Amino acid sequence: MILLPKILITAALPYANGPLHLGHIRSTYLPADVFARYQRLRGRDAIYICATDEHGTPIVAAAEKAKTTPQEFVDAYHAKDEKEFRQLGFSFDIFHRTSSAENRALAQRFFTRLKENGHIYEKEVEYAYCENCKRFLPDRFVVGTCPHCAAQGIYSDYCENCGRALHGGELKEPRCITCGSKPVSRRTRHYFLKLSSFSEKLGTWLKSNRNLQPEVVNYVYNWVKGGLIDWDISRDMGWGVPIPGEKEKVLYVWFDAPIGYVSSTQAWAEKSGKKWEDYWKGDSTIYHFIGKDIIYHHYLFWPAMLMGSDDGFRLPDYIPTRGYLNLEGRKFSKSKNWFVSLEDFLREFPADYLRYYETVITGYDLQDADFAWKDFQQRINNELVANLGNFIHRTLVLITKNGGKIPELKGPDERDSGMLDAIAKAKEDVAERLERVELRDALERVMALSAELNKYLSDKEPWKEKDAAKVGNCLHVCSRGVAALAILLEPFLPFTSRRIFEMLGLDASLLKWENIGTEIPKPGAAVVDVKPLYAKVPDEKIEELEAALRKG
Ligand code: MSP
Ligand code: ZN
Repeated sequence: MILLPKILITAALPYANGPLHLGHIRSTYLPADVFARYQRLRGRDAIYICATDEHGTPIVAAAEKAKTTPQEFVDAYHAKDEKEFRQLGFSFDIFHRTSSAENRALAQRFFTRLKENGHIYEKEVEYAYCENCKRFLPDRFVVGTCPHCAAQGIYSDYCENCGRALHGGELKEPRCITCGSKPVSRRTRHYFLKLSSFSEKLGTWLKSNRNLQPEVVNYVYNWVKGGLIDWDISRDMGWGVPIPGEKEKVLYVWFDAPIGYVSSTQAWAEKSGKKWEDYWKGDSTIYHFIGKDIIYHHYLFWPAMLMGSDDGFRLPDYIPTRGYLNLEGRKFSKSKNWFVSLEDFLREFPADYLRYYETVITGYDLQDADFAWKDFQQRINNELVANLGNFIHRTLVLITKNGGKIPELKGPDERDSGMLDAIAKAKEDVAERLERVELRDALERVMALSAELNKYLSDKEPWKEKDAAKVGNCLHVCSRGVAALAILLEPFLPFTSRRIFEMLGLDASLLKWENIGTEIPKPGAAVVDVKPLYAKVPDEKIEELEAALRKG
């Protein structure tokens, strides 16, 4: 028996505390999905794992505001996220939850092992406490001014303005988020992970893992060299994973969240009769897809937890990290109503339009990008519709007019053979880019093939040709181009891909990388139900959406 190489792909777990927007997709869920779909097309044993991140103070605060319980609150967002991700075609093998029994048990196991291995200690600390609300105020229960950049309205754990992680007591002019009173200081006992003792090991790993993005490694390495501060992993609150042996303390949300990658794999394995250890402890390759704001957690905290648990875990192989998406030049903000949710988008356009646009504006780097409605319209109309949609539709309509069946190839001329070679060449080029997670470049290469095919068809002018054999050859080559595009596009535009296969009368089981460029549309087979793949995005629609955004 040949063992297939195992590939584990995760996407950062979305907080179940608000609607998903176009930004989340761009850095995290879409790149991971494209990559997972590609791996499966290659016949590799790849799984794509995700879950909702359901603990932490933002969720408790949001639930209180909505006058509901944290549990009901996260139930609703879990269902909503799952539905929208499905509408976008995200091919998770499981979309689980961090409040699951599996995650609770595994997070407790990590805690216990780390403690037994001497990596966790207890310490009395002064902590913000609200005398009015009668509770401790961890993290997002306190707002104030950033001690580094002086930005206001900042939560006590992380500055959204300068991107620094904040530690207890650092925030200036703190206020209770619920009642606005000034917190007092109270003593409490917390658990700390000795991050400082992992500095050397982390530094060595960062420098030796050549798969990590160098620009991120340099920046993280400087933190390590600057000295890591021990990490407070407990909270005095009721919502979260209970700390073993404690009554009123739970694990900090960022402790149990990455463990959610593993526990969700366990839940998947349980359901599908697989072994989760094959992916986490065996000969596999692990990819964590994330956005740039959670670098610290994935390049330092998580590897330290894995190292310290000493439980046979692999360290991350790749951590594809991408920049932020802005909206018409400004940050996405729900509170400022500068926001396009997935639900808003999907009400107006097909999922593949978003998948196309966000892939072509996203390189494998930390650069931010901008979502602008006009730019979106232009790229959809000039590229997806005018290039790809046009070639496929012209081909299928010409075949319909010429008897409706895929013609044979008989004595191809040089141009015909050259076009078939170009398809084979594109297959190699696209694979090479996809292996390197260069998703934008890969999609651009597919679009270049589509443009070549369009030009071939236009130059050949089969509609003017009198020689039936020549017409047949041209349409044969074009039909192979259409089928090749359908497979090449499957990772990026799965809905388009399925639709093309339907029109070619091909079974979805033929969607395999090795079939690119072959004669899968068999001569003699009929094309079915030929319709344009796309419609242009009209000016009026764009004006309407721009106006809606500015009105708020
Ligand atoms: N719950 C944590 C991740 C835990 S992973 C163990 C979290 N959740 S999140 O909902 O805030 O973000 C989910 C993903 O979306 C993250 O990868 C984050 O970087 C990404 N993005 C959130 N807003 C974004 C943009 N505006 N642009 C690009 N990516 C964005 O972080
Ligand atoms: Zn209060």
